[in-house]
Amino acid sequence: MAEFFVLNTGARIPSVGLGTATGKAEPGVVGAAVYAAVKAGYRHIDCAPQYRNEKEIGLTLKKLFEDGVVKREDLFITSKLWSGNHAPEDVPEGIDTTLEDLQLEYLDLFLIHTPIRSKKGAIPTPENFLPVDIPATWGAMEKLYHSGKARAIGVSNFSCKRMEDLLAIASVPPAVNQVESHPGWQQMKLRELCKSKSVHISAYSPLGKPGSPGSMGKGFLSNPIIVSAAEKLQKTPAQVALRWGLQMGHSVLPKSVNETRMKENLSVFGWSIPEDLMAKFSEIPQVKTLRAEFVVHPQGIYKTVEDFWDGEI
Ligand code: A2P
Repeated sequence: MAEFFVLNTGARIPSVGLGTATGKAEPGVVGAAVYAAVKAGYRHIDCAPQYRNEKEIGLTLKKLFEDGVVKREDLFITSKLWSGNHAPEDVPEGIDTTLEDLQLEYLDLFLIHTPIRSKKGAIPTPENFLPVDIPATWGAMEKLYHSGKARAIGVSNFSCKRMEDLLAIASVPPAVNQVESHPGWQQMKLRELCKSKSVHISAYSPLGKPGSPGSMGKGFLSNPIIVSAAEKLQKTPAQVALRWGLQMGHSVLPKSVNETRMKENLSVFGWSIPEDLMAKFSEIPQVKTLRAEFVVHPQGIYKTVEDFWDGEI
């Protein structure tokens, strides 16, 4: 297993990246985590304006370059277009703000964060949602790709239906669909579709966000199939979950602000889960951790969670 996958642009995306959606982390925590991660060998940092920490990450990247830890061209930086910038004329502002905050001249990957469009500048609550117009937004994303500000473009949280609709109109096909994926939410249908169309899947919350209300404790990490595979392989359940992702052909973006766990999450090369153990993973109950209930409103665009995910939940 190589330490990267090749996108349909020809660029290499590192197999393991650091997620930075660390919620209510105190100021400085994410910056320190990114610095430690890059020093430990991470080469992909997954960002978004929605995480409200791009300025802090920008200062850290600057320091990493100044300290000679890494060069810009050795890093793969992803960020995302937030809901309030979906109008085609607002898409350039979306990337420009992110580039300014991250103190970068280009992104390696720029994604439509989610198929939610909200009124510009408004709090993205369901009352402020507008119907999405993905073809229009994608047209503006394609312009960013041609400008060189985004070296690859893609989407996030797209169902099979939305992927098919997008692929039908795209002049530049999406390079990536970043979605929740892990042994407890395997996304087999989406995986097959993306594979057949050369769209790479990048998995957020590849550990099932242990400890979050949606994951119910340790979530699938305490599933006996994972625990027993970990014991047999002398790895941790988290490493087994991440390695499963790599063997399924997708990159993984575990979040951690803890240096020991960051290093643990990067130690997923040079060993593999044998086929007989991989086959057992199909018996793990499938539960989506991040259901996005916050998008639902009786008078809103999405009346149910199923509406939002096109029934693929
Ligand atoms: P911490 O930052 O204290 O390490 P996900 O990426 O699936 O959303 O999960 C993120 C959560 O998982 C964070 O709360 C993180 O906490 C925790 N985490 C990260 N790596 C590991 C690991 N190797 N084992 C257990 N929990 C982990």
